[in-house]
Amino acid sequence: MLLSCKLKKNETVVDNVPNKKWWKEAVVYQIYPRSFKDSDGDGIGDLKGIISKLDYIKSLGVDVVWLNPIYSSPNDDNGYDVSDYRNIMKDFGTMADFNALLKGMHERGVKLVMDIVVNHSSDEHEWFNQSRSSKNNPYRNYYHWWDAERGKPNYRYSLFDVNHDAWKYDSVSNAYYLHYFSRKQPDLNWENPKLRQEIYSMMRFWADKGVDGFRLDAFQFAAKDTTFPPFPKGFESNFIQYYAMVDGLHDYLKEMNREVFSKYDVMSVSEGAGRNFQDAHDLVDEDRNELNMAYAFEAVDIAKPEGYSLLTLKNVFTKWDSSFAKKGWLSIFLANHDQARIVTRFGNDAPEFRELSSKMLNTFLLTMRGTPYIYNGDELGMTNIRFDKIDDYRDMQTLNEYRYQKSKGANLKDFIHRLGFESRDNGRTPFQWDTTTNAGFSTGSPWIKVNPNYTTVNATAQEKDPNSILNYFRKLIKLRKDNDVLIYGKYTLLDKDNPDVYAFTRELNGKKILVLLNFKNKNSVANTGIDLKHVKPLINNYTTASTRESLRPYEAVLYEL
Ligand code: NOJ
Repeated sequence: MLLSCKLKKNETVVDNVPNKKWWKEAVVYQIYPRSFKDSDGDGIGDLKGIISKLDYIKSLGVDVVWLNPIYSSPNDDNGYDVSDYRNIMKDFGTMADFNALLKGMHERGVKLVMDIVVNHSSDEHEWFNQSRSSKNNPYRNYYHWWDAERGKPNYRYSLFDVNHDAWKYDSVSNAYYLHYFSRKQPDLNWENPKLRQEIYSMMRFWADKGVDGFRLDAFQFAAKDTTFPPFPKGFESNFIQYYAMVDGLHDYLKEMNREVFSKYDVMSVSEGAGRNFQDAHDLVDEDRNELNMAYAFEAVDIAKPEGYSLLTLKNVFTKWDSSFAKKGWLSIFLANHDQARIVTRFGNDAPEFRELSSKMLNTFLLTMRGTPYIYNGDELGMTNIRFDKIDDYRDMQTLNEYRYQKSKGANLKDFIHRLGFESRDNGRTPFQWDTTTNAGFSTGSPWIKVNPNYTTVNATAQEKDPNSILNYFRKLIKLRKDNDVLIYGKYTLLDKDNPDVYAFTRELNGKKILVLLNFKNKNSVANTGIDLKHVKPLINNYTTASTRESLRPYEAVLYEL
């Protein structure tokens, strides 16, 4: 479709991009409320804290905030165990605070995406209290029960259970309930139409308040084969093949779309994108009427304590881009609250390279095709804290896995070393605002330790430095906004077999931008075949002029061709 629209006098924009949407053009900033800003000194971040930082959020240039769950919760899994979907967690504040937060965001032109956790609820949700009370309770079928009279159910792997067993025996009604995550996160039964209607009504409750989108937690697992047949031995090492995209899932999503999404101008994204490209397309292609964009994990899973291959990273991002070049839309991310820090995992957090590699990774995220998701703190280059004692960890998954490894007689020293690279808590330490006590996060005792490097890595110091990661990040966002080509333009990988440099172009309506990223801590040469002598650099993460084909350690540079 070729559209030509008149803007102001003498200003004509030719636009051949079909299906333009605000959520494709948005940059999403993810806030982990527990760790962002504490307003009342209890050591836990809260909504008033976020409100006090709205100008900072706006100043980044981001368009959408995705908030991790803020609903009432006993906090077994930091809010991913919801006990009341229509109320605010006490630690975080009140509904009045929420209303003020939403208003403050909208006044600044920032949209809000809620995290919807409905593969499971908390075991302290009233539905579960009712459900477990007796076999005849009207809420019994809100969850998955297996009567003990039938014997033990077939094994199901639990991601978070201390024994990795997803069935928990409950003596109240002499039955087992299913929990893919922790024992305090029983799985909801999506086969029950009443449950589904309750969920849609709850989502409309938030949409009616004016929220702008939904992120569906673990939703690819919501449909289950409720005959619970045996799975092959060892399936747990590849559980997504068995748990994701079970029959019924698309029906639920189409129904959710009809009942909720289609009635509002909201964006929708599900965590996980199934088992393959086809699944991902089935979730998000426009003609499916399910979700807006896929959120696939293949790339983030590449980083290992031993390192990772840039060739693999390039291959993964390129094949996903190719698969979505004509249809569907992708999320672009390397981190979230379940991953450790990007600079530690994908860059280099040694003092001499932290800034450069953070800027380089942010350049990557903000120049790819797809909607970028930036996790709070990555705009400052926050790093893993690498606790060396298990007692410092707070994450239930980490602690349960430690107990499990201990019960198996594993080498716990090695395990703790690994946690320093991959535990979720590395990405959950308090946001580093300034050099005051607790990095300006809280006047009380923080729920999790602050990374001691806050004295040098913090927002206030970076505000003052025109060359900081923070200010570079702002420039990048502006560049993306000013150049449609970086949003909608065709992506082409160059110098494919270069193990050190990620080079690609973006192209749209005769405009072409070259992105060169050195992912290594040494000088590396980009062999793109493009003569760079006379082209104009648009942005560079070094303060001195670029040396063109030869890139300095972690150098990132964009050229307009
Ligand atoms: C995925 C969420 O991102 C994670 O934080 C949570 O622990 C699990 N789902 C269970 O809700």
